[in-house]
Amino acid sequence: MGSSGRSAGRDDGDRLQKVLARTGLGSRRACEELIAAGRVTVNGEVAELGRRVDVDHDRIEVDGVPVSVRPGLVYYLLNKPRGVVSTADDPQGRQTVVSLVPAEPRVHPVGRLDADTEGLLILTNDGELTYRLTHPRFGVEKEYLAQVAGTPSRRAVRRLRDGVELDDGPTAPARVALVAPNLLRITIHEGRNRQVRRMCEAIGHPVQRLVRSRIGPITDRKLRPGTWRELTPAEVRALERAASASVGEGGSSWAGRARPRR
Ligand code: URA
Repeated sequence: MGSSGRSAGRDDGDRLQKVLARTGLGSRRACEELIAAGRVTVNGEVAELGRRVDVDHDRIEVDGVPVSVRPGLVYYLLNKPRGVVSTADDPQGRQTVVSLVPAEPRVHPVGRLDADTEGLLILTNDGELTYRLTHPRFGVEKEYLAQVAGTPSRRAVRRLRDGVELDDGPTAPARVALVAPNLLRITIHEGRNRQVRRMCEAIGHPVQRLVRSRIGPITDRKLRPGTWRELTPAEVRALERAASASVGEGGSSWAGRARPRR
């Protein structure tokens, strides 16, 4: 959004340092320092101390990373159990992920995990961050632990890394490690339907159990299945950072690296 007539004028809206401090970025004083250092922009222009903003319309960035400033935004991290669906309602009457977190404010899952897949899922009412976390252009990494039938050979693991042919096209290079005889750790940055299951099927080692263990910078080994917690402001910020570089611009993307790290 450009600096349109909707932007807050000199005397209305909230003070920028107050809005930034509310997101957990630091104390008001620390946020004033960020502004004074020229690290904060409003609608693409470097902000000056004393600036007021309209949290519903102004686009605020710190070091080029968009910051979600609307009050009332919530971010939950859920450890989804097997058998629970990632939609708001299920025609078959199965339990939904939305029913496992507080009902108000209403939130939606960021992307989907198959009913059979377990592990980390973010739920939020922040539409902008949801878009960035799910759009392939932003290439946010997702890491899975896949227990598979049999022991994949080195060649099979290499095929997963290099990309396998699926019926909707080849997969992008992935980071893949065999961490136990029948356990693969697979990191991808695409979000195609049942992608990990189809990749493993394609190399002849169907998935028996699939757990998502990381979303970008977010991981939590202590969160028990079926339970949730709020993301900390630092985690939200780290997610915003991970989702701010589009593929081809560096950041979280693998594009431009000679070879993906393994
Ligand atoms: N890949 C899958 O196959 N299933 C999921 O739920 C997520 C990634």
